[in-house]
Amino acid sequence: MMLKRTVAAMAVLLVGPMLWAAEPGGSVRQAVPGNEAASVRSAASTRQAASVHEAAWGTAADGTPVKIFTISGHELTARIATFGARVVSIEAPDRNGRMADVVLGYDDVAQYEKDTNTYFGAIVGRYGNRIAKGTFSIDGKTYHIPLNNNGNALHGGPEGFSSKVWTARMIPDGVEMSLVSPDGDMGFPGTLTVHVRYSVEGHALRILYSATTTKPTVVNLTNHSYFNLAGDGKGSILDDVLMIPADRYTPVDATQIPTGELAPVKGTPFDFLQPTAIGARIDEDNAQLKIGGGYDHNFVLNGKPGSLHLAAKVYDPKSGRTLTVMTTQPGVQFYSGNFLDGKQHGKYGVTYEKYSGFCLETQHFPDSPNEPKFPSTLVKPGETMRSETEFVFGVRP
Ligand code: GAL
Repeated sequence: MMLKRTVAAMAVLLVGPMLWAAEPGGSVRQAVPGNEAASVRSAASTRQAASVHEAAWGTAADGTPVKIFTISGHELTARIATFGARVVSIEAPDRNGRMADVVLGYDDVAQYEKDTNTYFGAIVGRYGNRIAKGTFSIDGKTYHIPLNNNGNALHGGPEGFSSKVWTARMIPDGVEMSLVSPDGDMGFPGTLTVHVRYSVEGHALRILYSATTTKPTVVNLTNHSYFNLAGDGKGSILDDVLMIPADRYTPVDATQIPTGELAPVKGTPFDFLQPTAIGARIDEDNAQLKIGGGYDHNFVLNGKPGSLHLAAKVYDPKSGRTLTVMTTQPGVQFYSGNFLDGKQHGKYGVTYEKYSGFCLETQHFPDSPNEPKFPSTLVKPGETMRSETEFVFGVRP
């Protein structure tokens, strides 16, 4: 298997930086030499393979059995459940080599199912983030998604992908989650077949997304993990130091729908070009920060969409843990956990207060189906939507 993987990786490198190449098992991988993720990958080619373990994890309310997969690498262990294809835990070392779970979540399926607001760890879709008034048109036909957020559709509507039990199969170093969303599911046109591959490779949790459709439709898939690099339940993330390579962001109206403007971050609390503590400016008298009670905005990444580029870097001074997010997507929603309110009782008996985790949701921009100037989220029959995101963990002194 190692040999096959090495050969596949070499094939990618030989054909060029932007191409996708078939991997054993019919999946795809994207290689972009000359960046951090590529070096993670080449280090990964000599590393020990991760082991994958499958277990039953109770049932959803309708009786469907749920499974959980534990992917144990040398440096990282991740648990992924089929309910919402969600990340339930990620254990990563701190600067002293002590492991801790660095994502928020619950102990069991029933709690995930009951909480329709946080989307802890889930794959959200068919359209992650918001669609204004749940309405958009394709080829002159108008579609309506049921509303679930201030008069808008959020994360695919009230029964989006985060509330589905996905099918799963083991793959080298990880698990592939699959979902067939029927034509008309939550109002979206076309039967959409989605595959999300999670793998632990060295210090990285790598996520590969692909989707095909039977009718033109819109797709925006992302992972909604909340990170607390000090450890799950270990207090506020406001001291964490964040860098986002984005000169612009998409300001929103009072219902959190983009105004359409790509506004410069310069001179605003949205300027994370230089590493800055998340909490340094969060309480400033800024109209955009007041709307969502903190950061809850899409940043327009400076990197080239389609190739793997940096989306964010975070450093937690307490534990020394760092998180580097790489993606092929054009944007990232930085959400500072503003709506956590102490009513969420998570793993390890902890309670999640406001700002006890942050999300970095790599994505297309919110409401793109209604903003012709934003990068398109349209997928047509015969095309395959593909994207990749890597969460790379490290430490600093
Ligand atoms: C984010 C969204 C927030 C909030 C959160 C879940 O993706 O932007 O406004 O809804 O999900 O609580």
